[in-house]
Amino acid sequence: MTAVGIDAIEIWTGNLRLDLAETFAPAQDEDPGKYTKGLGLNASSFPDVYEDIVTMGANAAHRLMERKGLTPDDIGRIDVATESAFDNSKPVSTYVAGCLESVYDEDFHHANKGERKFACIAGTQSLDDAYNWIRAGRHRGKKAIVIATDTALYARDDPGEATQGAGAVAMLVDEDPSLVELSTEQGFGSADETDFLKPNQQFPSVDGKRSMKVYLARLREALEDYESQVGGVHPEDFELVPFHTPFPGMVRKAAALGYRHIIRDTDVELTVAEEIGRQPRPEEFKTQEQYFDAVTEYTDALTETERYQAWYADTIEPTLEIAREVGNWYTGSVHVARAAGLRHARRNDRDLDDAKLLLASYGSGAQAEIHHETVVPGWEDEIAELNVDEQLADRYEISFEEYERIHDAHNHDSETDVEELTTPSEEFVFDGWGRMGERK
Ligand code: HMG
Repeated sequence: MTAVGIDAIEIWTGNLRLDLAETFAPAQDEDPGKYTKGLGLNASSFPDVYEDIVTMGANAAHRLMERKGLTPDDIGRIDVATESAFDNSKPVSTYVAGCLESVYDEDFHHANKGERKFACIAGTQSLDDAYNWIRAGRHRGKKAIVIATDTALYARDDPGEATQGAGAVAMLVDEDPSLVELSTEQGFGSADETDFLKPNQQFPSVDGKRSMKVYLARLREALEDYESQVGGVHPEDFELVPFHTPFPGMVRKAAALGYRHIIRDTDVELTVAEEIGRQPRPEEFKTQEQYFDAVTEYTDALTETERYQAWYADTIEPTLEIAREVGNWYTGSVHVARAAGLRHARRNDRDLDDAKLLLASYGSGAQAEIHHETVVPGWEDEIAELNVDEQLADRYEISFEEYERIHDAHNHDSETDVEELTTPSEEFVFDGWGRMGERK
């Protein structure tokens, strides 16, 4: 069977940076440690006034096409995943295609364009759609571009405000990919939930604490479903485990749950049992509450073991490097985590040829998906092309007062006319409705 997966990836970050410790914390009258240690975030990326989900997506896709020497004729499908769409009819992919067509002699007339929505998991669902389209043989030898783009903004003074972010990830999906091959096996955990939603509103209504519980519950179900597909999982099967990362503190909790879950009945459980005992089984307790308390106690002890900490340092920590500097990118978040992990591995000369990654995607509302990916030899050359470090370093540092104006500028209900803080350079800019897509 021909391998299908991600051939190339590009990341485009918003041009502004808000420092959470230096700028946000004092304005909120909070200890900086709440953001840097508790949530695990140093900064958020924000779009300047001339940036939005279309320009960021188009900029990432343009860089991808240029680097791979592609023109619109090579592309049979453009899928955009977003939960920040501004048009209930025309998909964001048509706006992105409009931008790209303004700089190529060809257009995307015969490409199938769409928009995917299921909170943050839509990025992975779009990847799945592109994969299935190629697998089904309907692609006529063409490639798919998948774009995950969001401005993840919360209402001012919402607890989620500290986790904001904005950026886009563009992925080229193709046969014989240069980066990772996707597995056919997938596990899902899905249930109707109302902890995070935006019914006809720009900023989400969020029950933050509950949203964390729902994330963990769906993750566990998806893991069980995945295990039923592959017949058991061992933590050391995977070199990196990129999670959906609303903030690294959430991944700290999710990783502990995942690890505890997958070590059950393995040699790892037996080894750590010498230190902390076996993990509790539901049948050993009279009430569910007693069982949950015992599980919490066991998980806390587990995360203190050397074995767990070494696993976390190798497989999880590297995936959080970019998220710490940009915040939540919603649909792009798990794809940023994969890129961060691979970038870290290349920098540290880790041999990942044919290694496996376990991807844990999640979207509120709520659904988790687990699948694995196999790293393709030569992956380092592809990852070396990412210029994310330059982009992060080039961001303009905003003051709190500038942040307040920029947040207003991106509030669709606001009348505020805000001057741009940076000068666009070789990028698509939002220049007013109907004139979108100009490249400056
Ligand atoms: P909060 O309630 O203001 O924060 O907001 P907190 O008081 O819980 O503190 C956060 C952490 O910092 C805690 O750590 C504190 O102990 C610690 P924990 O106990 O949880 O391990 N802390 C400190 N640590 C060191 N030094 C200090 C200090 N002070 C406190 N001085 C909340 C947190 C998550 C509720 C908020 O950020 C929020 O509402 N976020 C938005 C929702 C969200 O991100 N949920 C995550 C799961 S749902 C998801 O991922 C989907 C999503 O991406 C959307 C989609 O799918 O589309 C959001």
